[in-house]
Amino acid sequence: MSNIIKLPGLIDIHVHLRDPGQTHKEDFFTGTSAALSGGVTTIFDMPNNLEPIFTSEKLMEKINIAKQKAVCDWGLYLGTDGRNTDEFEKIADKVIGLKLYLSLTTGKYVVADDKLVELVFKKWPKSKVLVVHAESDRVDLVIRLATRYQNKLHITHVSTKDGLEKIIDAKKNTKSITCDTTPHYLMLSEEYLREFKGLGIVKPPLATPKDQEYLWQNLNHIDCIASDHAPHTLDEKQSSNPPAGLPGVETMLPLLAEEMSVENIIRLTNINPRKIFGLTQDTKTYVEIDKDEGYKIKNEDLFTKCGWSPFDGWEGTGKVKRVFIRGMKVFEDGKILVNPGFGKNVV
Ligand code: NCD
Ligand code: ZN
Ligand code: ZN
Repeated sequence: MSNIIKLPGLIDIHVHLRDPGQTHKEDFFTGTSAALSGGVTTIFDMPNNLEPIFTSEKLMEKINIAKQKAVCDWGLYLGTDGRNTDEFEKIADKVIGLKLYLSLTTGKYVVADDKLVELVFKKWPKSKVLVVHAESDRVDLVIRLATRYQNKLHITHVSTKDGLEKIIDAKKNTKSITCDTTPHYLMLSEEYLREFKGLGIVKPPLATPKDQEYLWQNLNHIDCIASDHAPHTLDEKQSSNPPAGLPGVETMLPLLAEEMSVENIIRLTNINPRKIFGLTQDTKTYVEIDKDEGYKIKNEDLFTKCGWSPFDGWEGTGKVKRVFIRGMKVFEDGKILVNPGFGKNVV
């Protein structure tokens, strides 16, 4: 028996497609193909490329690549080292938002000097979203600054009870603060890291089962779920110095569909991302899933170039049957039906 239901296309506000610079891990075609196979019709790509996206030149180079290769819709983030603030006004309307790294992660673009962090909050246009990688120890700082400068602050990949508690508290007074978590913080804990070593290394680190439980109990305070799709090859992950990051754009929907209601999935992956980033709903962009069709997630079936998933062997549900973008059938029964370049910039 099949039970086909229609969902608005998922919007994944946090992915790393590694193009340009590290296309052996992923590129705009493979990454957006992976997105479609997981029911994701729009991705927002992060700026921590090998050469970071801090200038309009770098941004234009990436826009041109996405225009040629993407099969789903997309938006790009600008990055900052705190020294490109004079360019903000000029670039802001070409990007979906600004990304600021406050804790050490892939690419080492951390802004460590609090004065520079403050300058970023002061200078970034208040109408556009400022996304931060701020682990628990930096959450107080970003909340304080966002309250002072009235930023649209979005705290991404929240993983701990401590971090989420602080955000829940801040939201009571400052309505423009939002946050997301990822499927891996909901589904995995440090136990996975103990078993799978390098494969389980991610920033922020996989947390305790208690943290995991707190995220589930407070799902109503979480605004979005994003994948933080961070592909690294299996060789790299199994090396003596494994990079941090887990792939996840194509496994997000089947994992969530196994654990939560369709209403919650729509709220966390479509309604709230649109609200936060100011996108309108296109009724001709949607996904058909078989709500009751379970299947095994397998590395060999994945579209991502990195070729592995921390969820290899897990049960997923709600198999993606067909995906439509702006009325065009773009994916059906495991096949991409449009040419590279079909995807449009949503900005
Ligand atoms: C991300 C990556 O690989 O680019 N890694 C990660 O562990 N999450 C960077 C990031 O999102 O912090
Ligand atoms: Zn991060
Ligand atoms: Zn990330």
